[in-house]
Amino acid sequence: LSIRAGAYSDELVKTAKTIASPGRGILAMDESNATCGKRLASIGLENTEANRQAFRTLLVSAPGLGNYISGAILFEETLYQATVDGKKIVDVLAEQNIVPGIKTDKGLVPLAGSNDESWCQGLDGLASRSAAYYQQGARFAKWRTVVSIPNGPSALAVKEAAWGLARYAAISQDNGLVPIVEPEILLDGEHGIDRTFEVAQAVWAEVFFYLAQNKVLFEGILLKPSMVTPGAECKDRATPNQVAKYTLDLLRRRVPPAVPGIMFLSGGQSEVEATLNLNAMNQSPNPWHVSFSYARALQNTCLKTWGGRPENVAAAQEALLARARANSLAQLGKYTG
Ligand code: 13P
Repeated sequence: LSIRAGAYSDELVKTAKTIASPGRGILAMDESNATCGKRLASIGLENTEANRQAFRTLLVSAPGLGNYISGAILFEETLYQATVDGKKIVDVLAEQNIVPGIKTDKGLVPLAGSNDESWCQGLDGLASRSAAYYQQGARFAKWRTVVSIPNGPSALAVKEAAWGLARYAAISQDNGLVPIVEPEILLDGEHGIDRTFEVAQAVWAEVFFYLAQNKVLFEGILLKPSMVTPGAECKDRATPNQVAKYTLDLLRRRVPPAVPGIMFLSGGQSEVEATLNLNAMNQSPNPWHVSFSYARALQNTCLKTWGGRPENVAAAQEALLARARANSLAQLGKYTG
């Protein structure tokens, strides 16, 4: 049994269950400063701390957000930041009944010896950073590594991704943070859905092998997989029912029911597509809570509606709430469009 009898075991299980609660999912708002800059540029704003703060204040203070959102993943800057009117962001989240989380990986760099693939940095110093984030109020963490189908994936890249995730998961649990395990299988490529399915099975087999080897407590983790879809440039598109069937087949074959929650990333799907696919997966009971951890598929319309103008804040918050509500219904299998 892969049981880690650490000091935080009970709390980890409780945190994971709270995040995986019915009708709720995660708001990913942990864009690094560079990625956040791209989002701000798309509405003509400069990438300043003030602009990042303004947008993130808008997100966390949307009225009633906690009815649909159980956890919010933050970038380090936001974990220590106040809203524009001087309240700590973590306190605003607590009032909304939303658990604060923290992106703890340090991003992707080229993987020497691979086929132009990458690996994820951040293990050095992770234990002390995780302990500090816990002190600041974070209760879960995220580590995003990627696997590219067109570039291989090479056995080396898959092994590195899986091993890094497992080390991060063990270190997070030792410091009281529920690790979100995220090997993102990138959408890019012309491959069909069967190829994605094959790669995803190989990746998740290795991830769980190393999670077990590192004595990670499965009841105290959350997964953040990509849905099994055709490559973004593939001519054969898949319906939500096909995506649901492939993705659930993958999960049933690879993910033990001890894992409380599967929180999908949107990975460049449109807002509605991401909701429809999630809804399709919740048409029959699953062994785990099957939900969302979307960034773009929750924020895109909200960001455009805001446009950096104070007079648009309320409308932008309503746009965020509309997506959050739709995905909440999809988590319950009750979204009708
Ligand atoms: P997307 O939903 O925009 O893919 O982002 C989710 C995320 O946090 C990726 O790590």
